[in-house]
Amino acid sequence: DFGILMACYSFLVFFVISQLLLLSSAEEERELNKTCPPSFPPCGNLSQFIFPFTNQTHPECGLMVVDNCNEPVQRIRLGKAGPFYNILNIAQDVSITLEDQVFQSHLNERSCESFKNLSLPSSSSLSFEIKSNLSLFRCTHKLEKKLTSFNSTCNNSSFIYYNHPDEALPSILPPNCSLIQLPVNKTRKSGDLFNMLTSVFSLQVVVDRVCWECRWRWGQCQRCNDCHKKRGRCHIDDKGNFQCENERTGIKIYVRY
Ligand SMILES: *[C@@H]1O[C@H](CO)[C@@H](O)[C@H](O)[C@H]1NC(C)=O
Ligand SMILES: *[C@@H]1O[C@H](CO)[C@@H](O)[C@H](O)[C@H]1NC(C)=O
Ligand SMILES: *[C@@H]1O[C@H](CO)[C@@H](O)[C@H](O)[C@H]1NC(C)=O
Ligand SMILES: *[C@@H]1O[C@H](CO)[C@@H](O)[C@H](O)[C@H]1NC(C)=O
Ligand SMILES: *[C@@H]1O[C@H](CO)[C@@H](O)[C@H](O)[C@H]1NC(C)=O
Ligand SMILES: *[C@@H]1O[C@H](CO)[C@@H](O)[C@H](O)[C@H]1NC(C)=O
Ligand SMILES: *[C@@H]1O[C@H](CO)[C@@H](O)[C@H](O)[C@H]1NC(C)=O
Ligand SMILES: *[C@@H]1O[C@H](CO)[C@@H](O)[C@H](O)[C@H]1NC(C)=O
Ligand SMILES: *[C@@H]1O[C@H](CO)[C@@H](O)[C@H](O)[C@H]1NC(C)=O
Ligand SMILES: *[C@@H]1O[C@H](CO)[C@@H](O)[C@H](O)[C@H]1NC(C)=O
Repeated sequence: DFGILMACYSFLVFFVISQLLLLSSAEEERELNKTCPPSFPPCGNLSQFIFPFTNQTHPECGLMVVDNCNEPVQRIRLGKAGPFYNILNIAQDVSITLEDQVFQSHLNERSCESFKNLSLPSSSSLSFEIKSNLSLFRCTHKLEKKLTSFNSTCNNSSFIYYNHPDEALPSILPPNCSLIQLPVNKTRKSGDLFNMLTSVFSLQVVVDRVCWECRWRWGQCQRCNDCHKKRGRCHIDDKGNFQCENERTGIKIYVRY
């Protein structure tokens, strides 16, 4: 009977294709496991590290690349397209100690240029928190209502208001003011703002929970697994957000990542 023959044939084709898909999926996983090492060797003064950090040999295996291993000071890129900083330490709790030389030179010169937010990228997969920071207000006008115990500085083009690091802040931002948060060394209680602020500081690295689950897959995750199931190619874009590209429903064309 032709009908039954066709049905068998269709089933056979379906079976072969699904086996091919299963095979390529396992192959792909092995391939990814092979490409991403579980840890990275010491780099300059930094001891061995793991995801979310990676090295230049495997930029796709983490969210932040550490390099300059043969230089006196190592460097880190905060995110795929983020800024570079000198890095002095990577701690167990996934915090990093950085040095910002430009900020230090502004502090040394007691320059009003000091009072700008650091450039720290923020995305759904990766963000940073300055562990010990001082909040300052940059205001376009001299505040009519005095903020008790606040001092001011750089009062020409804008007005910078600041308090001691552990003092409470007003619950609402004063009008015409923006918030600036800069790293502070709380053991320096001099009252001199340029000495309290510090260019060597720790950042807490905040990695999205789902990213941890998938550190074997280029540090990607469930969203990525779903993407692979749809025969897509998963990657983290310049802004650090997940993207699923080339979604297809047919037989997977093998792509070398
Ligand atoms: C990939 O590595 C993970 C973690 O070690 C392991 O659980 C998984 O079975 C590996 N997959 C393959 C296909 O080797
Ligand atoms: C990066 O890590 C891999 C895996 O551990 C290692 O083989 C490679 O030499 C490292 N590259 C650099 C530049 O340190
Ligand atoms: C890194 O190591 C070199 C040599 O071991 C040392 O001279 C240098 O001071 C260290 N740098 C930092 C920032 O600790
Ligand atoms: C400053 O510290 C506070 C409290 O620890 C924190 O909530 C905030 O995110 C920090 N600011 C920055 C810019 O990291
Ligand atoms: C500007 O700041 C200086 C000290 O830095 C202070 O003597 C002066 O009174 C301030 N001027 C205004 C308009 O606040
Ligand atoms: C504001 O005045 C300070 C000295 O009080 C000076 O160092 C600084 O360059 C001035 N800033 C601007 C933007 O004019
Ligand atoms: C403000 O200035 C006064 C007098 O110079 C000083 O005693 C105080 O510690 C300063 N406050 C801050 C927050 O720096
Ligand atoms: C805020 O700034 C605007 C102009 O930029 C000014 O007209 C207004 O009076 C300011 N408000 C306060 C409360 O200083
Ligand atoms: C500086 O950073 C803080 C904390 O991330 C943010 O709330 C604030 O809007 C930023 N200020 C400016 C002027 O960008
Ligand atoms: C704070 O400053 C003191 C004195 O300059 C220094 O010894 C200490 O290491 C600094 N602390 C941090 C966390 O940088």
